[in-house]
Amino acid sequence: MAGTVIVISGSLRAGSFTSALCRAIVNQYPNFVMRDYVRALPTYDGDLDTATPPQSVADLRRELGESHAVLIGTPEYNYNVPGGLKNVIDWASRPFAKHCLIGRRIGVFGCSPGDRGGKASVEYLRNMIPLFGATLIGPELLIPKVNTVIGDDGSIEASVMQRLSSLAGELAA
Ligand SMILES: Cc1cc2nc3c(=O)[nH]c(=O)nc-3n(C[C@H](O)[C@H](O)[C@H](O)COP(=O)(O)O)c2cc1C
Repeated sequence: MAGTVIVISGSLRAGSFTSALCRAIVNQYPNFVMRDYVRALPTYDGDLDTATPPQSVADLRRELGESHAVLIGTPEYNYNVPGGLKNVIDWASRPFAKHCLIGRRIGVFGCSPGDRGGKASVEYLRNMIPLFGATLIGPELLIPKVNTVIGDDGSIEASVMQRLSSLAGELAA
């Protein structure tokens, strides 16, 4: 069994579609765990980024550094990733060239109630991942009309679950 795959949802909302999809994956794979870094971290501040950063930052860097891979689920806010998710990446990607994401395998999916499935936010992340030294895994995975694919019991439409599982399988490998 491979090591831990850390799953990060870009949404804080209790009723988040993105988080519902993340939970569905975590429920299928025992070595996938969800982490709420978006809520836990302060806004990036270079003055806090010392040899003894806030505990939430130290936890983030240790957990990502020890992980087998990372899966990011993102909504789209104004044609980009939510600010809180960008903040997670900013903390994780320091110190420059010596950080916990160097060589880390990262997969991304996007979703939206709209027709584009979060395409702009996913493109943004997929372009950024190699730039900070991580390895992008999987195809562009967009889930449009996401509000129609999740049941009240959290069940996910089979074709969507199959696409998510395919990416999760690549990350678990
Ligand atoms: C500030 C803000 C900006 C948004 N901008 C976009 C956008 O650019 N494209 C889009 O498809 N949906 C946009 N939406 C709608 C979100 O896709 C929708 O609220 C979605 O349900 C958020 O994801 P969640 O369900 O995981 O919280 C925006 C929502 C908010 C709150």
